[in-house]
Amino acid sequence: MRAPHDPNLAQVRQGKILILGAGAMGRLWAASLPLGTARFLRRANSVASDCQYYFRPLDGQQRTVTVTYCDAADVVDVRLLLVTTKAPATLAALQDQLSALHPSVPVVLFQNGMGSQQEVARHWPDRPILVASTTEAANRPAPEMTVHAGAGHTWVGALTPLGQACLHEAVEQLAQSRLTVSAEADIHQRLWRKLVVNAGINPFTALLDCPNGEILHQPLYRQYIDPLCEELYQLMVREGLDAPSPTELRSTIEAVAHSTAANTSSMRSDVLTGQTTEIDYINGYVARRGQELGLDLPVNRMLTDSVKMLTNHSSLG
Ligand code: PAF
Repeated sequence: MRAPHDPNLAQVRQGKILILGAGAMGRLWAASLPLGTARFLRRANSVASDCQYYFRPLDGQQRTVTVTYCDAADVVDVRLLLVTTKAPATLAALQDQLSALHPSVPVVLFQNGMGSQQEVARHWPDRPILVASTTEAANRPAPEMTVHAGAGHTWVGALTPLGQACLHEAVEQLAQSRLTVSAEADIHQRLWRKLVVNAGINPFTALLDCPNGEILHQPLYRQYIDPLCEELYQLMVREGLDAPSPTELRSTIEAVAHSTAANTSSMRSDVLTGQTTEIDYINGYVARRGQELGLDLPVNRMLTDSVKMLTNHSSLG
């Protein structure tokens, strides 16, 4: 077994970390945790025993990673469940799995956008539910290859009272990886910052079918980015959040578009591979939440409808 990277972590109690969702983010965590720690949860109707893939870390030293698939009921000493499914699939995936998992096991949600995490916390208010907001970048240029495309930071906060009680232990477990992880008291503000970045980058990359950096030069982006930031600002104010000005929101979006210029966003990738996008949990969430709070947010509605037309998937309403 690989030694923990930080000698201060030598005290961390070893156990298994289950991961639900073997996409790019799930594979990044599985490859980064100490050898033998991670297990992928087998999805309903699957008989797979192992998941084997090539992993290219930031230093470029590609290696093969093998992660065992298991059923929740068969694993003893589970320390954490990481949920790295796409936002639209999360609730149903957990409904299939959680009853087999001891109620004290902390569940850490990694979904993009907003809404799916709150749905999970509402369904299981008596479980330790935590949420992570990460800027780690991972992608799968081919099904058998996972690339750690950019170093980031992962902030973890609690969504339920029991989540709060195990926050620090969950962070210690995650920090056994090579990734930078910290506890965050104001996770809501972090989730909003990421929502703003996703709302300002993802739909444009999907509609224009281009990498993140290219949107900045496109007329569609240039026409809508200021009214979009104005809508995001209005909603943040209405939510009672600490809202940066629309100009600051645009600068944040553009800083991320520059620093990830060559990356394919998760939404563009979903469109290219014919999967349901997370638009309902990004611009769609903003439009719906605005409506609930008495705000009409037409740019978010237009972007939501336009992305849905690309994939033809049904609306949340
Ligand atoms: O969803 C994504 O792809 C990422 O969150 C982001 C920030 C747009 C970078 O690619």
